[in-house]
Amino acid sequence: MAASAPSTPQQQDEDVVGKAYDHRLMRRLLTYLRPFRLQVALSLIAIALKAFADVMGPFLPMIAVDLYMTHSLQADHAWVARYLSANAVTGISEVAAIYLGSLLFSYLLEFFQTYLMQWTGQKVMYDLRSQIFRHLQQMHVAFFDRNPAGRLVTRVTSDVDALNEMFTSGVVSIFEDVLVLAGIVLVMLRMSWWLALIAFAVLPFILLVTNIFRKHVRESYRRIRVAIARINSFLQEHVSGMSVVQLFNREQRAYKDFEVVNRQHMDAFKDAILAYAIYYPVIELLSSIAIALVVWFGGRSVLLHAPPNISPAVTGAVTLGVLVAFIQYAQRFFRPIQDLSEKYNILQAAMAASERIFKLLDTPSEIVSPASPSKGDDSGSIEFRNVWFTYQRLDAATQTQIEHGTFVDDGSIEWILRDVSFSIAPDEVAAIVGHTGAGKTTLTNLMMRFYDIQPGSILIDGVDVRACDLNTLRKRFAVVLQDPFLFTGTIASNIRLGSDTITQQQIEQTADEVNVGDFIRSLPRAFDEPVRERGNTLSTGQKQLISFARALAANPRILILDEATSSVDTDTETRIRSALRRMVTGRTSVIIAHRLSTIQQADRILVMHKGQLRETGTHQELLAQRGLYWKLYQLQYKDQELAGIVPEAVGLPTS
Ligand SMILES: Nc1ncnc2c1ncn2[C@@H]1O[C@H](COP(=O)(O)OP(=O)(O)OP(=O)(O)O)[C@@H](O)[C@H]1O
Ligand SMILES: [Mg+2]
Repeated sequence: MAASAPSTPQQQDEDVVGKAYDHRLMRRLLTYLRPFRLQVALSLIAIALKAFADVMGPFLPMIAVDLYMTHSLQADHAWVARYLSANAVTGISEVAAIYLGSLLFSYLLEFFQTYLMQWTGQKVMYDLRSQIFRHLQQMHVAFFDRNPAGRLVTRVTSDVDALNEMFTSGVVSIFEDVLVLAGIVLVMLRMSWWLALIAFAVLPFILLVTNIFRKHVRESYRRIRVAIARINSFLQEHVSGMSVVQLFNREQRAYKDFEVVNRQHMDAFKDAILAYAIYYPVIELLSSIAIALVVWFGGRSVLLHAPPNISPAVTGAVTLGVLVAFIQYAQRFFRPIQDLSEKYNILQAAMAASERIFKLLDTPSEIVSPASPSKGDDSGSIEFRNVWFTYQRLDAATQTQIEHGTFVDDGSIEWILRDVSFSIAPDEVAAIVGHTGAGKTTLTNLMMRFYDIQPGSILIDGVDVRACDLNTLRKRFAVVLQDPFLFTGTIASNIRLGSDTITQQQIEQTADEVNVGDFIRSLPRAFDEPVRERGNTLSTGQKQLISFARALAANPRILILDEATSSVDTDTETRIRSALRRMVTGRTSVIIAHRLSTIQQADRILVMHKGQLRETGTHQELLAQRGLYWKLYQLQYKDQELAGIVPEAVGLPTS
């Protein structure tokens, strides 16, 4: 057995061993079946009929034996004789034909039922996956900061699969098993109650063995789930970071780490298999004992025409036909019991999966559009009023304190923005500069309301972002990021991301406007060049160029460039800078840049430092202030000087 590994966040979610049946969860799950009421009803009817056919099966051989061979048909069953031929040979053929017919009928029902339920299960899975994905899309950005992608993927894939298994094979066959069991018990008791009780004598042992088996398998399944979650997250991390693994020669180490989780999975599975390998033969053995008891006691009763050791006055002797039927019933009786214990596991896994899925679906988005959104003045103005912001989750008490203005800053909150106020007029070009981690990107995230601020307000078009409709608000913006994200498709489809109505001509035009048309046309298939996942086949600079075209094609009111030219060469940057002038005319623009040369032309420069807005003004004004901006400028200027000086200093030619 594998030693228990240290607990990981993944483990906790998959670790839950829920109840096998939870009324609340089940009721909610059944709501997904509601649109398929007819299909479910039909397959339940099919199951009931099949269960009836299964229970009645052994009844026919009994009739054949008692009516035609031993002529000792029980009075109870005398009515059957009226429907069958008096001639023994014809009669037996008739019974055989009915037996065959009932088998065919039962197989047909099984086909019908399986097809219907699988069909319904697939529809339910489809609905559920759509619902989860739609929900994920509505979630606020902070939610994805906290929930690793791998785990969310598991919700849509394997957890939904577990539910499907329950719908298609679990619940339905439990229903069937219970019906068959109940039917067989009733028929056996009616045919000969004392022989039935003898056959049932092994039941307590079966219950005991099943109970032990269930506990073992449940534990193994839990370990399997945990191991699968670990293998998934390990693989995901190492496959996407394979070049780093290889660069640092971590293959051996990574292989060893993988071996540990891989082994945990195998060991857990081996334990489960061992449990099954023991359980099934033990149940077979017990059912054989039951059959042996039936043959022994029943056989004696047939021979002696009296039940052994029991007064014949109380009970009747069994006929040969009843004995034959009993042997068949005893065989059929234990199969559903075996199945039930397996179905129990399916049910349990499904309950745990549904608990996780519903927990996700019940997590509300913390950022939603207001019920009656306000309309802005369409000007494209941006205003921050005393904005305070932290990425931390604040508890309800702090939240109310802040709302009522009674909050005292005791340093327990790590503020990313502190009392930031500024306004950017319509069509103005504003630049934000500052050290790494100063809060520049955070400022732009807040404008699009990816996060909610704590005290203060942010106004776009003169309206608080919290009063705006989210779709309308975000439609006002286009952003080019430092690490641009491209989707699978073509270059054209990536440029067209903002709207489907953008024509091919517009795409080419915008590409030319930002000076990337030539580059795109130099690709083998130009605008139809396929883009692989995340645009991995393109260089970061090329991706930035494409996202420039994308931003411009969307024709936004407000343009945000966050370190948008950080990955392109000087030549390309110069070309983009000349394009920039065209890009920013007629719209409000916010440009974040570390290279101060990019932003000297800005109407206004905001200097951020440790979450505070320290200086604002034009390039010249700020230089004259001789403050932070001046220092930043000096540093970069000195760098350039240094770059010129160094070759000389070490005696190398300067050209
Ligand atoms: N999603 C997040 N969750 C928690 N903290 C964050 C998150 N994003 C950023 N931060 C923190 O907020 C601070 C400001 O980050 P921000 O990205 O705004 O900096 P920046 O000025 O854009 O820096 P850079 O120039 O490196 O891009 C940093 O200290 C960072 O650690
Ligand atoms: Mg940033």
